[in-house]
Amino acid sequence: MNWDTERNRLPLCRTETYLMSAAAGILHPDALEVSKNFLDQLHQQGDKCWELNVVAMDEVRVLAAQLLNSKPEEICFVSSSSMAFSLAAQLLKNKGHRKFFSFREEFPTSTLPFINAGLEPEFATTDGFSHDWNQILKSHDEKSPIVLSSVESLTGFSHPIEVVNSFASEKGVPLLVNATQSLGVIPLDASKIPFVCASIHKWLMSGFGLSIFKVRQDYLDDPLPVYGWLSQKDPWKFFEHKVEPLREARVFELGCPALLQIFSLGAVLKWIQKMGGVSAIWSRVKELVEYTYSRSIELGLSPRHLFPTENRSSLIFFPVNDVGAAEKSLADQGIYVSARSENLRVAIHWYNNKDDIDRFLAAYSKLIK
Ligand SMILES: Cc1ncc(COP(=O)(O)O)c(C=O)c1O
Repeated sequence: MNWDTERNRLPLCRTETYLMSAAAGILHPDALEVSKNFLDQLHQQGDKCWELNVVAMDEVRVLAAQLLNSKPEEICFVSSSSMAFSLAAQLLKNKGHRKFFSFREEFPTSTLPFINAGLEPEFATTDGFSHDWNQILKSHDEKSPIVLSSVESLTGFSHPIEVVNSFASEKGVPLLVNATQSLGVIPLDASKIPFVCASIHKWLMSGFGLSIFKVRQDYLDDPLPVYGWLSQKDPWKFFEHKVEPLREARVFELGCPALLQIFSLGAVLKWIQKMGGVSAIWSRVKELVEYTYSRSIELGLSPRHLFPTENRSSLIFFPVNDVGAAEKSLADQGIYVSARSENLRVAIHWYNNKDDIDRFLAAYSKLIK
């Protein structure tokens, strides 16, 4: 794997220090190429390629399923993770759920859709970076579905998702994972997880406007929360006006799909496979993450949280007084990080390198002196 060669394909990385992938990743060059070709096709050929495009879209579904170690029938593409969890909230209600369990530190995509659907939130009494799931689940009422992010966007804590899922299975409650801050950088085996969503604009480097949504087929009960002509088993039976839904996740792809985003994602998923999978990406990123922690400590700097190695992610937070001014001052020096609460959030992807980290740490250390 030659990461330097791949990094060199990203013009932004040649001139600046981009540590903002937790906000949005740089669009991958393969996604750019595929998008341009697709727009060119629409321009030159109109709708002549519809059937070919539908086949190509299903190939992306297979790649997305492989990424999650799940079945293609469990995968659909929706407009955002907020949309995915809004659908999930209604499916939980269909099954009789009236509450959900989560953390106060969660990103609102993982809480508001459920609250809006009338599910009562039951927040853990421990903080969002506890490891002891026996302790965490003391405040769980035994029946509530568990909703959490694989990596918390406001702390960087990486939850032991497989452990959480075995607790959830033991209790017979569904687990809903928002993998937006990890899918594409940290491997996730979602084979036994009933619900997963992940927006594609961050670690999957595929641009805005799409989320991969995994939903297990036994949750697709009537009445389905939303419906369209492409939800039908046979969408070409136009004039019967009788609801006959597919029992696959793609029932939620109601009408003509967001092919540009889907093909963009497909190009990145192929590239990821070529590079050795997400585990190869994570090996590289983990090394950079550990470098960041150890260099900061050598320089007498203190990241906000020092989580155990197994709970570290590609997000690291550094405290500052005036976070807005600090973010701007770094941007003026060509170093891009995100201001979040009282911290600068540094997000490390495979296209970063040790020079990026050194540049950030040198500038940060001047800032806080
Ligand atoms: C954990 C997490 N979930 C979801 C989102 C947003 O997802 P969407 O805009 O697709 O709803 C973000 C950030 O934008 C996030 O950090």
